[in-house]
Amino acid sequence: MAHRKAFISTLLARLILAAPKPQVPGYTDADFPLTVEQSEGPLATSFFPDSQIPAIQTSATTEPPRKSPDPTGPTSHGPFSGTPTTTGALQAPSTLGTVIPPLPPNPTATYYNAAGNLTEPVPIPYQPAGGLGTNGTLPRYMVESDFDFESIALGLYQEWIELDLFNNGLAVFSDQDFLDAGLTAEDRALIAFMAIQESGHATLLANMLGQAAPKQCTYNYPFRTVREYIDFNQKLTRWGESGVFGFMNHLDSREVGQMLLQSISTESRQQMSFRQMLGLQPMPVWFETGIPQSWAWTYLAPYISSCPENQTRLAWQNFPALFFINQPNPNRFSPNDTQPWEVVGRRAGDPSNSTIPPDESCVNLNVTGYGCGPAISRNRSEPLSFPGRLVNMTWEAPGQPVGPNNSYVTATEAHGPPQWVAWVSQLNLTYTPLEVTGEREGYTYQPAGVVFEGDPAVNGTMFVALTDQNPFLTPFNLSMINPHVVALGLYQAG
Ligand SMILES: *[C@@H]1O[C@H](CO)[C@@H](O)[C@H](O)[C@H]1NC(C)=O
Ligand SMILES: *[C@@H]1O[C@H](CO)[C@@H](O)[C@H](O)[C@H]1NC(C)=O
Ligand SMILES: *[C@@H]1O[C@H](CO)[C@@H](O)[C@H](O)[C@H]1NC(C)=O
Ligand SMILES: *[C@@H]1O[C@H](CO)[C@@H](O)[C@H](O)[C@H]1NC(C)=O
Ligand SMILES: *[C@@H]1O[C@H](CO)[C@@H](O)[C@H](O)[C@H]1NC(C)=O
Ligand SMILES: *[C@@H]1O[C@H](CO)[C@@H](O)[C@H](O)[C@H]1NC(C)=O
Ligand SMILES: *[C@@H]1O[C@H](CO)[C@@H](O)[C@H](O)[C@H]1NC(C)=O
Ligand SMILES: *[C@@H]1O[C@H](CO)[C@@H](O)[C@H](O)[C@H]1NC(C)=O
Ligand SMILES: *[C@@H]1O[C@H](CO)[C@@H](O)[C@H](O)[C@H]1NC(C)=O
Ligand SMILES: *[C@@H]1O[C@H](CO)[C@@H](O)[C@H](O)[C@H]1NC(C)=O
Ligand SMILES: *[C@@H]1O[C@H](CO)[C@@H](O)[C@H](O)[C@H]1NC(C)=O
Ligand SMILES: *[C@@H]1O[C@H](CO)[C@@H](O)[C@H](O)[C@H]1NC(C)=O
Repeated sequence: MAHRKAFISTLLARLILAAPKPQVPGYTDADFPLTVEQSEGPLATSFFPDSQIPAIQTSATTEPPRKSPDPTGPTSHGPFSGTPTTTGALQAPSTLGTVIPPLPPNPTATYYNAAGNLTEPVPIPYQPAGGLGTNGTLPRYMVESDFDFESIALGLYQEWIELDLFNNGLAVFSDQDFLDAGLTAEDRALIAFMAIQESGHATLLANMLGQAAPKQCTYNYPFRTVREYIDFNQKLTRWGESGVFGFMNHLDSREVGQMLLQSISTESRQQMSFRQMLGLQPMPVWFETGIPQSWAWTYLAPYISSCPENQTRLAWQNFPALFFINQPNPNRFSPNDTQPWEVVGRRAGDPSNSTIPPDESCVNLNVTGYGCGPAISRNRSEPLSFPGRLVNMTWEAPGQPVGPNNSYVTATEAHGPPQWVAWVSQLNLTYTPLEVTGEREGYTYQPAGVVFEGDPAVNGTMFVALTDQNPFLTPFNLSMINPHVVALGLYQAG
């Protein structure tokens, strides 16, 4: 017996010596001297008096006015029932062509630095030669072309809906509704803060446009529950950020691009927060993708019911809507069980149905790998989607009234029937063949393919179009896809 006892205690000692340390397979010799002494004792129970530290009395000397308070005052919501007084996108005095012919690279785009040494004299110490806007010209924070104006005006339409939308959920759902979705008073405070951020973004963009800046509109939202509200927010901010990433580096005004970058980075953080509130992995990709302006406008317009008289109109295209019949439902622990049309409406950005039976829902499930309540991050043991997944689709015919006052019309410039499904995610545009099975009905399979090894291109909330051709395009010339787009949808990959 004594012998056996001794054996057990050596075993225990060994186990303690081999106690688990964080391990990253293949990553050896990671250790460096790490000594930390954790203070011990009871937790705080009283929170004052606090130290009085050195400080002076100071306050902001100016407070630049915002274009709109937050919240925006009395609102109305719901569909538009009137008659449009004008129809179609904003037109130019004339149109010069139907395609932009490809050109060779810019003749000056030849710089290559094999040695990594400086090749030109520096203008001042520590400033390498080159760059734009680095030679002392005075910055001008205004749009510099029709392209700039229309892009920033589109961005402003987006900021205005966000300002209303973030407040709207807080206004229509009770504190208990939020708690039932796992969101606390502190989470609501975060959403309220995001709304205020939007009044700042709207002010910035309106200032860079001038007197014709579009005004805030009236909106028609698709959600019925807090989960659906959060789902809609993560989708809407997704096309908001990608819509800007698609044009930011094409702007004529670098100054406007700079301001925009500093606001859209905040929007990206909002998108990530909404993913976390939906219990999704916050950033399942390595790169956030960019999409053309007409794509962002296509996604956004169906949720704007009417705009004020004399509203500045947009020149961008509205593509017909593409629907995923089996859109993966993030409220399910087993997304394979998603039923046909498990979304709450018939607009491309509509959220997934959150009122599925409780025993199929992941919302209040406290099981690692299966729960999808709010969290910093979640693992999904059963993915939302996967390469090779059959994806059923239907799409609308062009010619549908859409957007503010039903005054825009969906259109396509494609020359033939759709033949390809174009998946836009991360740095990639991937085509899969479309199998047409009926009138405006067909299927394809979710593609595999990676950006760089270890990073599957398709993931997250992403963008999918039907096209008549499959031109090779990269992030900086993606908008050349527009003349080929037949319909446009939003896919909930994961
Ligand atoms: C780069 O700079 C280093 C240090 O001045 C020099 O030794 C080297 O020759 C340079 N290489 C080229 C290719 O200029
Ligand atoms: C300064 O740089 C801008 C481009 O950023 C260019 O348009 C302008 O001609 C340059 N001015 C001078 C004096 O070189
Ligand atoms: C998408 O990202 C999640 C989170 O990293 C991962 O678990 C999942 O496998 C990814 N999906 C695909 C198709 O790679
Ligand atoms: C849109 O409709 C609303 C409500 O009918 C109307 O007040 C507004 O003037 C219209 N806006 C435009 C731009 O026609
Ligand atoms: C709209 O424009 C017309 C013509 O310029 C003007 O008479 C009218 O006052 C404007 N309406 C509003 C609400 O600004
Ligand atoms: C959501 O799913 C439930 C349960 O399947 C169903 O009864 C309800 O009609 C669905 N709601 C919508 C808007 O499709
Ligand atoms: C979830 O389960 C863990 C482990 O059983 C428990 O510690 C935790 O309190 C539970 N959380 C909730 C919100 O029920
Ligand atoms: C979460 O997923 C990662 C890989 O995506 C895996 O390494 C890890 O073990 C998972 N953790 C849990 C708790 O399931
Ligand atoms: C979902 O369907 C795919 C394809 O049939 C299958 O490989 C996978 O195992 C299914 N997921 C689960 C959790 O059964
Ligand atoms: C999806 O497409 C496949 C292949 O055409 C078909 O067999 C299946 O019935 C479709 N499912 C739905 C829900 O439309
Ligand atoms: C995705 O884009 C990256 C970067 O341009 C490229 O290296 C890769 O081959 C692309 N992958 C696919 C599947 O198109
Ligand atoms: C888009 O750019 C890529 C290079 O990144 C080029 O290979 C391709 O031909 C371009 N597409 C068109 C239609 O110009």
